Amino acid sequence: TCKFPSTNYLVNDNRKRRLPQSIIIGVKKAGTGALRHFLDLHPDVITASKEPNFFSFRYENGFDWYNKLMPLSREGQITVEKSSNNFHHEQAPGRTFEFNSTIKLIVVVREPVERAISDYTQRVINNRSRRKFEDSVFNFRTGEINREYICIRPSLYHTNLQRWLKYFPMSQIHIVDGENLKSNPYEEVYKVEEFLGLSHQVKREQFVFNATKGFFCFRTSSMVECLRDNKGRQHILIDPELKDRLKRYFRPLNELFFRQIGQRFDWS
Ligand code: A3P
Repeated sequence: TCKFPSTNYLVNDNRKRRLPQSIIIGVKKAGTGALRHFLDLHPDVITASKEPNFFSFRYENGFDWYNKLMPLSREGQITVEKSSNNFHHEQAPGRTFEFNSTIKLIVVVREPVERAISDYTQRVINNRSRRKFEDSVFNFRTGEINREYICIRPSLYHTNLQRWLKYFPMSQIHIVDGENLKSNPYEEVYKVEEFLGLSHQVKREQFVFNATKGFFCFRTSSMVECLRDNKGRQHILIDPELKDRLKRYFRPLNELFFRQIGQRFDWS
């Protein structure tokens, strides 16, 4: 029989599961998956492959459960996890602060209406949305935009971030430009390396544009990998007038967000 000395291997390598020093808290459908994969290219970073969403929906599972989802890491390596439901969850900021008040938080953002439609598209594909976007996006009594609609709520960047800012200073929160992450991933990863206090190890040559997919793939030591087909898919068509109305609704909210973060994006 063949015995693989797995225990010895782990002991010698000094690896163990560590709770994260940094969390990608959202925003879902803005490029969080791409960022997680890109950060994994850094030798001093290791990311959890599953989304724990611990500080939002799985808190009652306890820290042992959370720890088990973490990858084995070497000493000195930064553990990063992404939980894209944390950003818009009421209790996630307070719970995260209680866990580690010095944790580094990363938020990927994208034009909020496109993000909402991407979210809706995913829900329809996963059979999690029976109602049409057009029917859910308005409050049927007031005719106003329904801010609690699950596809809209995460896009309310200013309101959601406000809850995190009750606990964490802006210096502990890094905003990633999701549009630039698509067209120039190297630049965005470079900034995250800086934010995490890492040396610049991810190389521009590691990003390889795939014309068929229309997105960047990435070179690991052994191969070129792309994100799965559920990332970068065609969106369900939404009535252009409704889209315009939503864009108008978000315009002043975006301005509040830009002021809040001291940075602006071209989301016109
Ligand atoms: P779309 O499917 O709407 O185009 P998340 O991982 O947070 O769910 O975000 C998914 C989005 O990541 C995709 O949204 C896509 O636009 C974006 N993205 C950014 N870089 C990408 C890449 N290199 N490959 C695939 N998708 C990428």
